[in-house]
Amino acid sequence: MKTILITGATDGIGQLATQKLAVLGYRILAHGRDQQKLESLTETTVGQIEPWLADLANLSDVRGMCRQILQQHECLYAVVNNAGVLKAPVTQTLTNRDIRFEVNTIAPYLITRKLLPIIDTQGVILNVSSAAQAPVDLDALEQFRAMGDMEAYAQSKLAMTAWSRYVANELTNGPSVISVNPGSLLATKMVKEGFGIEGKDLNIGADILVRLVTDPSDSKRTGEYFDNDAGDFGSPHSAVVDDAFGRRLIASLDSIIHQIGSE
Ligand SMILES: NC(=O)c1ccc[n+]([C@@H]2O[C@H](COP(=O)([O-])OP(=O)(O)OC[C@H]3O[C@@H](n4cnc5c(N)ncnc54)[C@H](OP(=O)(O)O)[C@@H]3O)[C@@H](O)[C@H]2O)c1
Repeated sequence: MKTILITGATDGIGQLATQKLAVLGYRILAHGRDQQKLESLTETTVGQIEPWLADLANLSDVRGMCRQILQQHECLYAVVNNAGVLKAPVTQTLTNRDIRFEVNTIAPYLITRKLLPIIDTQGVILNVSSAAQAPVDLDALEQFRAMGDMEAYAQSKLAMTAWSRYVANELTNGPSVISVNPGSLLATKMVKEGFGIEGKDLNIGADILVRLVTDPSDSKRTGEYFDNDAGDFGSPHSAVVDDAFGRRLIASLDSIIHQIGSE
């Protein structure tokens, strides 16, 4: 049985993708930040669900979860970095960074780096990005600076898309690394809170996550970006393919994750 870690499995696109993949026979390591929501997911989902609790806005917590996964699992077929945040009551983390960068960019990078030794070389790391992408202020990624919600979100998603491409290029004999815009304005609480609208069918987002993980012709397209608004692989924002920016971004991310021990 293949095992897949899905972050943000307790709501929205991640929850529906979890249910679909569990029905297909995958064992799901379902990550959430809320114990009650994780218990409810485990009780109501048909299939093998293993709950994993961590606040992705707290990198020490993320590191702890990864350590335990490494102790308890020898192989993951896929990691789906799906959890994300647009609006939050408090946007500054305890470590003085913007929560959008922490949850949407840095935590999934940390998870990927930590779990890489056990991710199947034939497997896939799927990073859930967005059509909302904007050039990244690396100073703001490293240290909190007050920003509008959409600006911080779009920068965090461009950064995630850029590190996906960079890590894909680095892994010559490793799993695929793919980023995906799951579709814009889908019916999740992020969209209801952010835009005050009901949104489009959630299956649009969940189905593309399932397809990119399970269909070999798609899951091998490492380094690429799937734009589900267009229904195909396509071009991310031009800054994503700027190699000089990619190197600076990776240096920033590596420096942040190396500091975690002392935070
Ligand atoms: N909906 C769209 O139209 C759309 C479009 C483009 C991209 N996306 C992306 O799709 C992904 C899923 O979002 P969604 O639309 O399904 O939104 P959602 O329903 O709000 O789900 C977001 C998930 O992320 C989790 N999460 C948020 N902050 C977290 C934290 N600090 N620690 C741990 N988990 C945290 C949430 O946990 P809780 O369950 O505890 O809240 C939830 O499970 C996100 O990356 C989002 O940016 C969505």
